[in-house]
Amino acid sequence: MDLTTNYMGLNLKNPLIAAASPLTSTLKSIQRLEKAGIAAVILPSLFEEQIRQEEEERIALSRNNLLPKASSFLPAGLTLERGSQAYLDTIHKAKAAVDIPVIASLNGCSEGGWMDYARQIEQADADGIELHIYYNPPSLDITGRQVEDVYLDVVRSVKNSVTIPVALKIDPFFSAFGNMAKQFDEIGVDALVMFNRMLQPDFNLNNMQVETNWPISKAGEIGIPLRWISVLHGKINASLAATSGAYDHEDIIKYLLGGADTVMLASALIRNGADYVSVLLKGLEVWLKQWDFAGLNDIRGLMSQRSVANLEAFERANYIRTVDGARKR
Ligand SMILES: Cc1cc2nc3c(=O)[nH]c(=O)nc-3n(C[C@H](O)[C@H](O)[C@H](O)COP(=O)(O)O)c2cc1C
Repeated sequence: MDLTTNYMGLNLKNPLIAAASPLTSTLKSIQRLEKAGIAAVILPSLFEEQIRQEEEERIALSRNNLLPKASSFLPAGLTLERGSQAYLDTIHKAKAAVDIPVIASLNGCSEGGWMDYARQIEQADADGIELHIYYNPPSLDITGRQVEDVYLDVVRSVKNSVTIPVALKIDPFFSAFGNMAKQFDEIGVDALVMFNRMLQPDFNLNNMQVETNWPISKAGEIGIPLRWISVLHGKINASLAATSGAYDHEDIIKYLLGGADTVMLASALIRNGADYVSVLLKGLEVWLKQWDFAGLNDIRGLMSQRSVANLEAFERANYIRTVDGARKR
């Protein structure tokens, strides 16, 4: 059974990638994931704020031996736990310890000196960079166009800084996501990772505190990424990676049928352990055999919207049919 796939120029033995999460933070767990059959790993993100904070501290120390004020809302000790040099060391060590691609993750939302770090990641021998842009415009005066420009500028700068492939992990909340995807593609982004899950604050009515949900996803959350992967398949050059809610082999098959080149896993592996990768691969193989498919190439994008001539009419008709069906029930 041919499970191989190409993801942003990297040849992978199968479509399963360990998404950025604590599971990819130690060599031991990366090795366990490799043993269970994972095809590549994304390291947890290094944040723009961490890099900036280190830089501020370095400058302050060299000027007058005084540490700067803890100027941000970052958790204390963040820099010390996993500073930028330690991150580069992890890349080096992971590359030496496993044979699968190791992709670093950078999280930021502005242009600036921290981007030099992309070059250092490349020098540390990472196979690629997953750029995770998380930008929540703080002011009501910031327009949609300005938000879009922030994304485009950051992506352009990182792409211009390195020669290794760059994937972009984003959220879907643009008024015209399809057009944004096209613009990212035109800049030359090598893959789109769909989608980042937004933090959704809740109010605790017992202690009147704001609580931010733990970012573990639930099964059944594949709807929005599946839709956009199905729309984009065959229309842009960038590889398509699905992230969110892939819990069993059926979720993975649905993403592949929609047109994903790879499926990323975090919550399912956190809940079930690294060895669960082999269960998912087995399920995928059994299903392909049952349907007499020779490999992933036979199913990728089979149920995408590539062949739909009038997408707008198709979407409206689908919507009306669904509402009508619900009313009748
Ligand atoms: C505990 C935890 C930590 C995560 N850390 C990161 C991170 O550092 N960088 C990142 O881009 N995504 C991070 N994510 C998001 C995952 O990579 C993934 O995109 C998301 O959880 C959706 O996939 P899933 O449904 O398989 O969990 C994290 C998720 C979890 C659950």
